[in-house]
Amino acid sequence: MKPSKVVEFLIDNIDPLGQGVSKINNQIVFIPKTLPGERGKAKILRKKGKVFFAEIEELTHPSPDRIESECPHFHQCGGCSYLHTRYSTEIEIKENTLKRAFAKFEDIKFTTVEAPNRFSYRNRVQLHYHSKSQSLGQMKGMSNYIIPTPDCLLPNEKVSEEIKSLYSGDSLWQKLQGQPPKGHVEIYARDNNVITSYNQHYAAGGFTQVNEEMNIKLNQLVKETLEKMNPSNCVELFGGNGNLSNHLIKSHSELKRIIFDIYPHEMSSERTQFVNADIFKTPVAELGSTVSREFSKVDSLIIDPPRSGYKELDAFVDLIKPKNIIYVSCDHQTLKRDLENLNGYKLEEVFLFDLFPSTFHFETVAILTRDN
Ligand SMILES: C[S@@+](CC[C@H](N)C(=O)[O-])C[C@H]1O[C@@H](n2cnc3c(N)ncnc32)[C@H](O)[C@@H]1O
Repeated sequence: MKPSKVVEFLIDNIDPLGQGVSKINNQIVFIPKTLPGERGKAKILRKKGKVFFAEIEELTHPSPDRIESECPHFHQCGGCSYLHTRYSTEIEIKENTLKRAFAKFEDIKFTTVEAPNRFSYRNRVQLHYHSKSQSLGQMKGMSNYIIPTPDCLLPNEKVSEEIKSLYSGDSLWQKLQGQPPKGHVEIYARDNNVITSYNQHYAAGGFTQVNEEMNIKLNQLVKETLEKMNPSNCVELFGGNGNLSNHLIKSHSELKRIIFDIYPHEMSSERTQFVNADIFKTPVAELGSTVSREFSKVDSLIIDPPRSGYKELDAFVDLIKPKNIIYVSCDHQTLKRDLENLNGYKLEEVFLFDLFPSTFHFETVAILTRDN
């Protein structure tokens, strides 16, 4: 199958990246923005290793679950994966993805927490730019082209307004003078301000969860789970500003905590020790001894790493032996890898938290307890 060849397809299932999977002439072909059972013709775009990537040319048998996308950019933009179907189908696809990934773990309870809003939820958006062609927007799916996305439906109202203003007039291109010819712009609404930064690291100015409504639900879940465990202390790895334990520290006057994060944060509670450290570069033994200097026994460990997960989790857990672990993850594959390596813990419950509706991403929360 050479690029540009048009082939007939039947979609078997949806992969974890939201792409339809079809077997054509015994070869695997990924076709985004399709649904299980759909048939049609697709154009082969490229081959990577043993698999092919294609795009729809014609849909001869659309799924009854297919709907018209509300977003004008959807069919070109690589940002969203599921706007061609109802939210209930999107959730079903995400649930299947998570259950498939965790099939090896026995007797786990799965719970889904849906998002109240499919659109207007992001407080932070990154757009790509290319100064020479004066292009600004998201990457077109499966390419290096930037497509303009002034009417993207995901940002909240404030971010949306700012994005629209970047598309009007020349001020963006003037501000980008002195910046590299290609890069990214981040528009971030926080603390009643909208900050636009150029070629800074992700979430410049400090990380906050991107979906504020869902963050309230996430906070609630962590608080309720911790309350059941009745901890007198907790350790938070990749804890940022303590978002996940702030509720509990306020309501439980005896609770003490240690938070580790690469970026410094001012902590108002005297019962909080903040440790400014690059966790990936700090030896596990050093992290462990920082904890054991404060706590002779650890009750709860909360961990919320970036997408890469934390490969040394098993070694760290062996050192501090928390009674229970709450692992919040934006990548269920690295979460699964980290949990598979843990010894002496039972995975009790897994929550699918739909923090990123319309896209293939979701947050997963895993609750574990020590065997004895
Ligand atoms: C997914 S965020 C979670 C933050 C926090 N739990 C929250 O809910 O706001 C991941 C955090 O990991 C931190 N981080 C990223 N790389 C790190 C590293 N190498 N060492 C320590 N912290 C890191 C980031 O600063 C960010 O606060």
